[in-house]
Amino acid sequence: MASSPASIDPARLRTLMDAERQRFLARHPRSCALAQQAAGHFLFGVPLHWMRDWPTPATLFVRAARGAELTCADGHVLADFCLGDTGAMFGHSPPAVAQALAEQAARGLTSMLPDERAAEVGALLAQRFGLPCWQLAMTASDANRFVLRWARAATGRPQVLVFDGCYHGAVDDTLVDRDPATGATLRRPSVLGAVHDHPAFTRVAPFNDLAALERALVDRQVAALLAEPALTNFGLVPPQDGFWAEAQALCRRHGTLLVLDETHTLSSGVGGWARTHGVTPDVWVAGKAVAGGVPCAVYGFTEEVAQRLRAVKEAAPEGHSGIGTTLTANALALAALHAALTHLHTEATYAAMQQAADALQAGLEAALRRRGRPWTVTRLGARMELQFMPTTPRNADDVRRHLQPRLEQSLHLFMLNRGVLLTPFHGMLLCSPATSAAHVERLLQAFDDWLAALV
Ligand SMILES: Cc1ncc(COP(=O)(O)O)c(C=O)c1O
Repeated sequence: MASSPASIDPARLRTLMDAERQRFLARHPRSCALAQQAAGHFLFGVPLHWMRDWPTPATLFVRAARGAELTCADGHVLADFCLGDTGAMFGHSPPAVAQALAEQAARGLTSMLPDERAAEVGALLAQRFGLPCWQLAMTASDANRFVLRWARAATGRPQVLVFDGCYHGAVDDTLVDRDPATGATLRRPSVLGAVHDHPAFTRVAPFNDLAALERALVDRQVAALLAEPALTNFGLVPPQDGFWAEAQALCRRHGTLLVLDETHTLSSGVGGWARTHGVTPDVWVAGKAVAGGVPCAVYGFTEEVAQRLRAVKEAAPEGHSGIGTTLTANALALAALHAALTHLHTEATYAAMQQAADALQAGLEAALRRRGRPWTVTRLGARMELQFMPTTPRNADDVRRHLQPRLEQSLHLFMLNRGVLLTPFHGMLLCSPATSAAHVERLLQAFDDWLAALV
């Protein structure tokens, strides 16, 4: 059967995948040996089970990562467009962060007291991201969990609202789906060990749908809308023109806090999507790359929200707040955050990322045209996504209708075997300031070879 431009002959795909699996095994004897050894003491053979979610027949082990390149245990150097799924968006081991960490490592790692740099870090956060008041967490998951707790406490409302297809980390409240027939909230069936009734306290609306958003807010039970400015975790879905201005107005009208989680959309430009587009949310969250890839997350809020948070904390009895962890804001994290705010969140850094992304997008689109594939490249600053659909999606349902997991896996393994690393979860590509024209060229060549190999 010949393949049509939109779909690929499954038999051809199977043959190609089998050949690429063999190729991987032949090229990675050391990774294969390490996989066997690690299987003795790690569940699924890896320190975190996600590390088996790559399409490789054996786990790929890493020797080193620097800038936009990652060297595997077999010595192959990969041009890295996954960048630790955004943790390394500013490049692996940015020199300013590595140096700050090395200096701090000799001067104490953690003390449960603020390092003397803290005041300066607070001022830098306000300057870079435009909100006056801040707290730290270890991960973006933690930050989102804490923000939801603060929001419910400050508003006295039980519900939270998220968008269909969202991912905000390991945050139970948000690991829910939307029933397409009824709009009701469903448990996400893949979540393990869930006993609490999160669907009773979380509402889910389709992205880019203002009427659905208003329906979810109108009874004034929703403490916070937690959202990415563009969906990035279920395919890249940008907001439609004017969506956020209206959505924010609806939140205000119904007394719901707008929380923008910019952990991924930090790729949009200096300060993230909100700063770049002149939107000031009530609360703003970022993790992953915010401190150059060192475990650290931040959340900031307006002065009005800060007053409400102070009031609610002061009114509570002494004891555990349920917010914070022992290692949060440790000296290493603060040192990294200080270095990142000073040297990475800059116009020059973003200009380099955008330049690489421009070349990548143009090359991918040219290859698709040349090979007659009606697929889309959707862009968000230094991030883009190859989508197996003719136009940019409007919501998660659009993405669902066009999912082709086998095709995606084929792309990822084919590229990896040719020295290019992509994010395993979908067709996401991210450019760091260290991404060079040669890295882009390598990706484009491998992509064109893959398109040719599909027929
Ligand atoms: C938008 C968003 N928020 C939060 C998280 C959670 O980040 P972490 O796994 O570092 O806690 C992710 C992870 O992918 C994310 O994409």
